[in-house]
Amino acid sequence: MKDIIQLHDRRFKVMISAEEIDRAVEAVATRINADYSDCDTPVFLAVLNGSFMFLSDLIKKIDFTNEISFVKLASYEGTESTGAVKNLIGLNGSLEGRHIVIVEDIVDTGKSIEHMVELLQAQHPASVEVCTLFFKPASYQKQIPIKYRAMEIGNEFIVGYGLDYDQLGRSLKDIYVVTE
Ligand code: IMP
Ligand code: MG
Repeated sequence: MKDIIQLHDRRFKVMISAEEIDRAVEAVATRINADYSDCDTPVFLAVLNGSFMFLSDLIKKIDFTNEISFVKLASYEGTESTGAVKNLIGLNGSLEGRHIVIVEDIVDTGKSIEHMVELLQAQHPASVEVCTLFFKPASYQKQIPIKYRAMEIGNEFIVGYGLDYDQLGRSLKDIYVVTE
């Protein structure tokens, strides 16, 4: 693991190790396994691109029968949320009566996740919960409950483990934070 890396114009330093991420993923998977043990085939909706690595580690720790779909919503460029949201693409089949777990890389202001939950509620699922790898409580501006938060961080900008800085850094197995 390199301690300092350069992505585009910014330098990043290691903040959270792969081992620490794994422990947080394990803890959240244990809660989801307990909560959904009696539900009929829940569906995990993993939000692309950022959640691919989280979903792949999380799902290996899930012990009930499930479905997985990869969906896409907002575009995000640079280190600040643009505020622009797009429609939900990648759904196959009706979600009516289904138990949905949305899998996100990070919930920041909450704008994207709120929009996504609203679009999904319109399909009359049995339930919708959010499972995010990272949650920024000081930045969150919305009311919808974020039930599963693997880790909470401050308002710093991070990359790695699926998260990007203008498309770079997604493949890093540790989390890096931007330096001054
Ligand atoms: P929100 O709509 O403000 O909650 O933004 C959510 C999206 O912004 C996430 O799905 C990420 O794509 C992106 N984002 C927010 N904070 C970070 C960060 O620290 N690093 C990388 N992407 C981030
Ligand atoms: Mg995202």
